[in-house]
Amino acid sequence: MENKSRIKMSLQNISKSFHSRKETQEAVADVSFDVYENEFLVILGPGQCGKTVLLNMIAGLESPTTGKMLYEGKEYHGVNDGFGLVFQKTALMDWMTVMENVEFGLKIKKMPKEERRAIAQKYIDLVGLNGFEDKYPRQLSGGMKQRVGIARAYSTNPGVLLMDEPFGALDAQTRYLMENEILRIWEQDKRTIVFVTNNIEEAVTLGDRIILLSACPARVKDIYIPDLPRPRDNISTEFLRIREEIEANTDMAL
Ligand SMILES: Nc1ncnc2c1ncn2[C@@H]1O[C@H](COP(=O)(O)OP(=O)(O)OP(=O)(O)O)[C@@H](O)[C@H]1O
Ligand SMILES: [Mg+2]
Repeated sequence: MENKSRIKMSLQNISKSFHSRKETQEAVADVSFDVYENEFLVILGPGQCGKTVLLNMIAGLESPTTGKMLYEGKEYHGVNDGFGLVFQKTALMDWMTVMENVEFGLKIKKMPKEERRAIAQKYIDLVGLNGFEDKYPRQLSGGMKQRVGIARAYSTNPGVLLMDEPFGALDAQTRYLMENEILRIWEQDKRTIVFVTNNIEEAVTLGDRIILLSACPARVKDIYIPDLPRPRDNISTEFLRIREEIEANTDMAL
């Protein structure tokens, strides 16, 4: 894989505890891994294991209790310009059109209108929403809203795209379609992607590498590297073998 060896970001001994008056809850415990440039990294873990807390720390939305995070070799704290975020429920602005939603991040950065329109259009086209520029979020299906979210994240030219169960709220068929779509988009415009899921099949379909987390507190249990050509055939012997291997190593039913 191209640039496989170049490290884009690193987590070093990251932990997170929440303190309340009664108790301390550890959500993430001593997590370390590197993310390589342009890889599709999947973080797979059971429900409530600490995936979102981990991703929020990477995004700078929460600070780790211990440990260090590096982006392009430099330690960082707080929100980092280099990241684009896509969540399970993409919070689109209801009163803005698809075009306005996608170009919003660029508008904030005070990019001139013509320039930001061109960039937004490029990513609207890339995610397959050409012709929907003037629609409002209420006129879109769940899958289309996630496409807008992906276009919006991409348009700010992030070094790393952080995705937290972006297809988790979609029906099975749309989810399957969107998994193929995100791979197509990524192939056409390579980025480093950190993709969180609790779905083993999705992880094996998408990941260059899969970081398997334990139940809460999240620790790195294992790392898998599916050596399967894309698009991956989810009923091939090798696909099923990896899926079963991960299933057997998972802390609870995902
Ligand atoms: N701000 C907070 N204060 C206290 N506890 C928290 C806070 N945020 C998360 N937690 C706890 O940390 C644990 C992990 O939560 P997290 O949302 O990261 O899990 P998750 O793996 O993303 O779950 P899901 O699969 O449901 O998305 C949970 O037990 C949760 O209650
Ligand atoms: Mg979560």
